[in-house]
Amino acid sequence: MNFGCDYYPEHWPEARWRMDAQLMKQAGMNVVRLAEFSWSRLEPCDGQFDFSWLDRAIEVLVSEGISIVLGTPSATPPAWLIEKHPEILPVSADGTIMGFGGRLHTCHSQPVYRNYTREIVMAMAQHYALHPQVIGWQTDNELGTTLGDLCYCTSCREKFHLWLKHKYGSIHALNQEWGTIFWSQTYDKWEQVPIPTPVPAIHNPSLLLDWKRFQSDLEVEFQQLQIDILRLFAPNQWITHNMMGLHAKLNYFDLGRNLDFVSWDNYPMGFWLNQGADPYNVAMAHDLMRGIKNKPFWVMEQQAGPAGWETLGNTPRPGQLRLWTYQAAAHGADAIVYFRWRSCRFGAEQYWHGILPHSGNPGRRYEEIRTTGEELQGVMHLLEGSMPNAEVGIVYSYDQLWAFQIQPHHPDLTYQGQLAIYYKAMYDMNIPVDMLELNGDREWFAYKIIVAPLLFLMTEGVADKIKSYVQSGGTALITMRSGVKNWNNIVSDLEPPGCLAELLGIKILDYDCLLGNTQGIQWVVPNHGEKQNYEVKKWCDVITAITAKTEAVYTKDYYAGKPAVTVNQYGRGKAWYVATEPEQDFIRVMMQIIVLQSKILPIVTTPEGVESARRVTQEGKIYIFLMNHTKEQKQLVIPKEWKPIVGERPQDDRLTLPGFGVSIMAVLTKN
Ligand code: GAL
Repeated sequence: MNFGCDYYPEHWPEARWRMDAQLMKQAGMNVVRLAEFSWSRLEPCDGQFDFSWLDRAIEVLVSEGISIVLGTPSATPPAWLIEKHPEILPVSADGTIMGFGGRLHTCHSQPVYRNYTREIVMAMAQHYALHPQVIGWQTDNELGTTLGDLCYCTSCREKFHLWLKHKYGSIHALNQEWGTIFWSQTYDKWEQVPIPTPVPAIHNPSLLLDWKRFQSDLEVEFQQLQIDILRLFAPNQWITHNMMGLHAKLNYFDLGRNLDFVSWDNYPMGFWLNQGADPYNVAMAHDLMRGIKNKPFWVMEQQAGPAGWETLGNTPRPGQLRLWTYQAAAHGADAIVYFRWRSCRFGAEQYWHGILPHSGNPGRRYEEIRTTGEELQGVMHLLEGSMPNAEVGIVYSYDQLWAFQIQPHHPDLTYQGQLAIYYKAMYDMNIPVDMLELNGDREWFAYKIIVAPLLFLMTEGVADKIKSYVQSGGTALITMRSGVKNWNNIVSDLEPPGCLAELLGIKILDYDCLLGNTQGIQWVVPNHGEKQNYEVKKWCDVITAITAKTEAVYTKDYYAGKPAVTVNQYGRGKAWYVATEPEQDFIRVMMQIIVLQSKILPIVTTPEGVESARRVTQEGKIYIFLMNHTKEQKQLVIPKEWKPIVGERPQDDRLTLPGFGVSIMAVLTKN
């Protein structure tokens, strides 16, 4: 089991390193991540590398039984490099050159910067490739983490033109695909195509979407140049990158493609959230991170204390560090690495607290992490490689996400927000979910239900994939604004839902943005037969049912009585269409019925605030996690064949979880 912390030996006197390593060891730690911001120490001047201090730090850590993950330092190029090559500084949308003084002060398309990056990565790889305790690499740090878009410099502009040329082949094709005849934007040559800097009116949505794709591809390419070097010089060490969960700037499926596994940085309380993120949101982020490569992942930075820069968030309550650790493991983390070992006394992150306070003296948080490590020691190896065996998939698409960032329709409509509604319904029922790539190669046939909200951009290929899934017996749930556009962000000349019409058995001939008002829907709840009314908001597609059966109808205005939710039998399966954003209560009841029809069983029924998740090993051993995210004590009834292996123990079939209490159970099987 990998359990550890992010450590910055360069921040502390060398005389302290031994004590740190011993305290880590006493806390059960066996891995640290080092060096991802230490370029100025590793290459103090151009071309002169100094690994001696890092060698000594590694030696101390290794002598206490700790393995090493090395970060490549490309997020913090040193002052001498910027002084020598100011052209590598990034440029913001308004043309301001962003200066040195924080981090991320470089443009990733700049050939000069790419060369310096190659050099340092190569030097590190050559130096550490054969070190038996250097187990792997993290590329850069949180690629795409800049506040605004990445960069608008001339090099990026030229690269964007190359990217477009590669995609469209000719400027004529681009004109066609983008519809540049609108507002007289027809281009004669690539150089005329703008990048989306401020303009008096608004940019072409096709350009905006391609710009987002280009930026994502640029980061993937920047990472790839590091991967290539690491694979060449350090072929026996693995490579990962610390992603950021639901962060939306990069297509993480692309970024993860050539990594050995995904890592991510989990700050459930952030500093921006008063009460912390909703636990279901953190769960969704974990599931997305597992979904990127459909395999277990690492948490490379797990919140270990109160967080903040100029202002701070709440201090994690006793029990919460342990709870978040369990939640990560429950959703597929095979390793937990806390950020950071000790709170730094200087620099921008003085108040981003680590396990140890500024004084370096172990306190409450150290003790909680130490006991958590001790508890998990006996079980993490049992869980390694195991997956939740989810029967429900939720499709996640960065292209749709970006298209809705560009045109949200309703100011409060977001792609992630819409996914979260359906995710929450499953989470509340304790039904495991896998997050699926829309245009990936993986087949979906293993899932009983696929939820695919807001499939705004559509291709024949995507439609065929969903159709063959349903045809063969799956249940798909599609929502409003699906099949509206082509992949280049142009509205289709078919009425929505375009090439999904046959599958869904509907047409959309009218729609209504609920700006400043709401609608209602009425549903005759199957099995009960009683009529229930619910509020809906943001958007209403007005459905004309062709072959689909109407499940719910609108209740107000001129389209009262028209279908709002339909279901269509297609081949051996069913395709639902939810034409609006119903309140959570409706989603809950509807999902309960769909789940029941698909014969999917929840892991267990839990009181509100208690989450349950599952990991199943390849040999079929099942482990159940029970996690109380509230401050109050909660009670639940658990099956007889669940045997506690960590945390709270049941009395007969009753389990009492104290506030923030947790427990892992092994499911006993007959043989
Ligand atoms: C992460 C980042 C770390 C540190 C931490 C606290 O997002 O990777 O380097 O900055 O946040 O701000």
